[in-house]
Amino acid sequence: MRRVVVESPATVSEVLFGCSWQTTFERIEGRGSVIITDHNIDRIYGALFPKGVPVIAVKPGEESKSISTIEDIVSQMVSIGIDREGFVLGIGGGVVCDIAGFVASVYMRGVEFGFISTSLLSQVDASTGGKNGINVSGSKNVIGLFNQPRFVICDSAMLKTLPESEYFQGLSELLKAALIADRELLETIISLSGQLSSADLSPIDDLVFRAVEIKASVVTRDEREHGVRRILNFGHTFGHAAELCYNIPHGNAVAWGMLAAIKFSRSEGYLSGEDSETLAGLIESLNILPDKSIDVDRVADRIQYDKKRSGEGIHFVFLRSPGEAFTRLVSISDLALFLRSFKL
Ligand SMILES: NC(=O)c1ccc[n+]([C@@H]2O[C@H](COP(=O)([O-])OP(=O)(O)OC[C@H]3O[C@@H](n4cnc5c(N)ncnc54)[C@H](O)[C@@H]3O)[C@@H](O)[C@H]2O)c1
Repeated sequence: MRRVVVESPATVSEVLFGCSWQTTFERIEGRGSVIITDHNIDRIYGALFPKGVPVIAVKPGEESKSISTIEDIVSQMVSIGIDREGFVLGIGGGVVCDIAGFVASVYMRGVEFGFISTSLLSQVDASTGGKNGINVSGSKNVIGLFNQPRFVICDSAMLKTLPESEYFQGLSELLKAALIADRELLETIISLSGQLSSADLSPIDDLVFRAVEIKASVVTRDEREHGVRRILNFGHTFGHAAELCYNIPHGNAVAWGMLAAIKFSRSEGYLSGEDSETLAGLIESLNILPDKSIDVDRVADRIQYDKKRSGEGIHFVFLRSPGEAFTRLVSISDLALFLRSFKL
């Protein structure tokens, strides 16, 4: 078993790899726990959940990250009799982790929680780091809080049942970790690029482990995103805007945003032409880009509504070289100007 630790001023959170997800149950039995999951996970794995622990299953998908779902879960927890000593175990992808982390953080002013992370995207990114957010009126993660889970279990065996399209959403965030912080991981992804698919999960354990090490190290240094944590937003400024315009999956949108950010890093003179071409070629080869064409003018118009906007600018994440990112405050108008000139 391998372990990565996220240290924050309030808690120590551990992410565990190479152990069966069912070993987690020893940690929760006999303490007034509740499992929060979605209907897909419940259908596939529910029979293996521990007997006697109540299960609350939500509808799969982003729409469940809503106030009405939270209200419904809280009512059920009250009826079940979960008290302040209770424990919330989220079993699912990023949606379930966000919901379970949010509910646990506010229920009776906060109970402990942990995750069994079942999608590639949640294993490499969403379940680690202590951000717990839900959506309001179409604004993503607009209410939420920082609070670390006690533990996160990443069991790659669970990825065998993940739909292939979801695998590629996670691959995009995995690539992001390499691009911003680890040239060696990037070289590994380049060497595996033709083979990375949900049909062969053998390389995935090591790749996920390294991505989580990167995220944990960044979050430990800056839990509240006042500085270095911003680099985790690489590809997200342009990506989020495209995601909102076209309602495309998050990982595809981030892949497109990373491609644009690579070209922007080149045009600002940070990245060499050769590196820019290599990285763009890699993104194109990984099967992670959106399957529809993106109108850059439409996306450029959307940049001004970015929720990470700071006054007239955004702390934009550039690459200085493959595996090294930094941020610079760039005005909204300069971001939009670049984007209007961006061609895939
Ligand atoms: N809190 C954070 O720091 C953070 C970071 C990144 C993303 N997120 C959030 O994560 C969410 C996206 O997460 P996601 O991509 O995991 O989406 P998701 O949770 O909706 O899962 C995608 C689909 O795969 C299914 N699924 C998950 N694991 C499965 C498995 N092992 N077998 C079969 N089916 C499985 C789910 O039921 C769902 O239908 C977004 O809401 C995003 O905002 C949060």
